[in-house]
Amino acid sequence: MPTTDTTPVSIPGPRNIQWVGDAKTGHLCLLDQTVLPNEVTYLNCKDVQSVWDAIKRLSVRGAPAIGVAAAFGCVIGAQQDSFDQATDHLATSRPTAVNLFWAIDRMKRVTPRTPDALLAEAKAIHAEDAAMCQRIGEHALELIQQLKPQASSNKPLSLLTHCNAGALATGGIGTATSPMYLAQQRGLPIRVFADETRPLLQGARLTAFELGAAGIDVTLICDGMAGQVLREGKVDVVITGADRIAANGDAANKIGTYPLAVLARHHNVPFLVAAPSSTFDMSITDGDEIPIELRAAEEITEGFGQRTAPPDVKTYSPAFDVTPAELITAMVTERGVIQPVDADHVRLIVGST
Ligand code: MRU
Repeated sequence: MPTTDTTPVSIPGPRNIQWVGDAKTGHLCLLDQTVLPNEVTYLNCKDVQSVWDAIKRLSVRGAPAIGVAAAFGCVIGAQQDSFDQATDHLATSRPTAVNLFWAIDRMKRVTPRTPDALLAEAKAIHAEDAAMCQRIGEHALELIQQLKPQASSNKPLSLLTHCNAGALATGGIGTATSPMYLAQQRGLPIRVFADETRPLLQGARLTAFELGAAGIDVTLICDGMAGQVLREGKVDVVITGADRIAANGDAANKIGTYPLAVLARHHNVPFLVAAPSSTFDMSITDGDEIPIELRAAEEITEGFGQRTAPPDVKTYSPAFDVTPAELITAMVTERGVIQPVDADHVRLIVGST
């Protein structure tokens, strides 16, 4: 079985982020992920507010993709002679994914701040993210094969993932999904359980959509079914993405990830987090410092237009949770594997970013 093939994987499906035209007059074209999988529709963002809106309402979502979109949003700001206002405004769109702030900081360091120079940097951020996804996939697949040697036999390797840490969430082939695409490219038998991911169903609408389009054997389950699926021994490895990782390895990801990590530990199943170095926030010591986005009540009381709760019910809707480092078997970055997950090993692999 060729395990050293580093041919970049290209996958089918619509492209989530594209710049159209030149630096001075061009615009950002985003796939509207809110209507997937039923419709493939694009949003043409020609001002900063429309980029902000697209990030806020999750038309473009997933930590790396938010960063890439914001970088292009900064170019639009410069086109309209309002670069500083653009960076300040885009930074208020969503609080948890650190890639947003990382990308905006990179754009602020560009000199001169002309649309041409800024567009070159935004395109570099986009391309680097694609390359990071590929390297994460190579490291992750190697690690998974070490953890589960049967992955090289005919028994399908069985992975469980949460939310969408896929191509739709990044500039490349995803983070948690990258070893899946690589395994498929290399002819390794693989199957994936996708948590539907309440309340906005990124697992059902996006992960099942993109893996299915690529011909990967994907089985959709409700979030609350994961315990039973693990108990039945159907999962070899759980792998998710992350939105912000603290210096000690505590990792914020889509709400529902933390209970999945607890379940994985209880069932002695490895729990992996796949993320690029741009997702690490070395300025914070631990997960308690990660800002957790609170989302609108309607997303849990009348998601997708159907009222499913009493009109006067109180709600609480954190969009992310924090998985403590001690529950994470290993982290996979483009720079290598962090194992065990603690402050020393995070620093060793990721450095100061
Ligand atoms: O609210 P979302 O859809 O932006 O949340 C996305 C996630 O939590 C992803 O798992 C995370 O950003 C990793 S994407 C490679």
